[in-house]
Amino acid sequence: MMSDNSTAKCPVAVVGAGTMGAGIAQIFAQAGHPVRLQARKRETLEAALRRVRVNQDELIRHELIAAVGAEAARGRITVTQDLKEALAGAAFVSENIPERLDLKQPLFAELDRITPPETILSTNTSSLPITQVARDTKHPERVVGFHWFNPPHLIPLVEVIRGERTSDEAMDATYRLARAIGKSPIRVQKDIPGFVGNRLQRALEREFFYLERIGACSGADLEVALKQGLGFRWSVVGPLEHADLAGVDTHAATVALLFPLLSNDTAPPPLFANLAAQGRLGAKTGGGVYEYGPGDVERILARRNTMLIDFIKVLRKHPSLRDPSE
Ligand SMILES: NC(=O)c1ccc[n+]([C@@H]2O[C@H](COP(=O)([O-])OP(=O)(O)OC[C@H]3O[C@@H](n4cnc5c(N)ncnc54)[C@H](O)[C@@H]3O)[C@@H](O)[C@H]2O)c1
Repeated sequence: MMSDNSTAKCPVAVVGAGTMGAGIAQIFAQAGHPVRLQARKRETLEAALRRVRVNQDELIRHELIAAVGAEAARGRITVTQDLKEALAGAAFVSENIPERLDLKQPLFAELDRITPPETILSTNTSSLPITQVARDTKHPERVVGFHWFNPPHLIPLVEVIRGERTSDEAMDATYRLARAIGKSPIRVQKDIPGFVGNRLQRALEREFFYLERIGACSGADLEVALKQGLGFRWSVVGPLEHADLAGVDTHAATVALLFPLLSNDTAPPPLFANLAAQGRLGAKTGGGVYEYGPGDVERILARRNTMLIDFIKVLRKHPSLRDPSE
């Protein structure tokens, strides 16, 4: 198992170099870890390195990282198409291949065969049970969920998820590593579908779509309610803290009144099926819920990233937002 000392700069292997793998390799490298990034196709690796560069240039423009440090970080990333080479000497593995159990299970069996039992094997699965991902390994105790949120180089939260056989040591080492690379980890102690982040998100979305469907509010206004009201405050004060500040009795009364009235829909909202039937799949087809003209998506992404970067600066200014004990 990784010691406290070795967690600081231990060699990391990132397997899969798509949307998530590239940003994750970048974050480990920026934190000083030597990273081997593996994908089967050379083009994927080249695209991943370009993505790291673009991500870093944006961070440099917004003065979150220095150019010289960014270059040094890129120098710590070695790309390879060979899995064995990627894994040689790795103390921690972050798996980021597509969300398919039929791909992840054989990969984890192979990772388990190739690496010594003290190497931690993490999966970035969004929805598959960690226990299932680890099914064909001889050492499931070192398999742990390590779930990042997109864009991985900007969102602080990562979930550290315990499979049925994950050891305390693997949980603790992964949690410490996440902290050391500047992320805000939480421990998810049950291997439940959607873990915690996606369950909370979908629970809120269920009510969101219900309110829209019954005509209580337009979708656009509901987005304002979340962005300017709840999301804004939740960045600073969570529901438990808010209950204390508002008064536990008042809070309990509202909960008792509203819980029975909230949507308990189990079917997905018709909105997405209707849009999909029209070929409106979102930004990638020029329209989904909203319309996108030339350059719109790039502008929206740049604005999103700028605001997320500004918020990272706020977190740096107020460390207690990340950790109330600080
Ligand atoms: N995209 C997101 O928003 C997001 C967020 C959190 C977690 N995740 C999870 O992260 C994982 C990766 O998602 P992504 O969006 O980066 O996917 P992606 O399709 O962008 O990238 C997957 C990469 O894996 C490679 N690959 C495919 N099969 C492989 C195999 N058998 N062995 C090795 N490499 C293989 C592909 O070439 C590609 O580079 C998934 O489990 C996904 O659920 C994604």
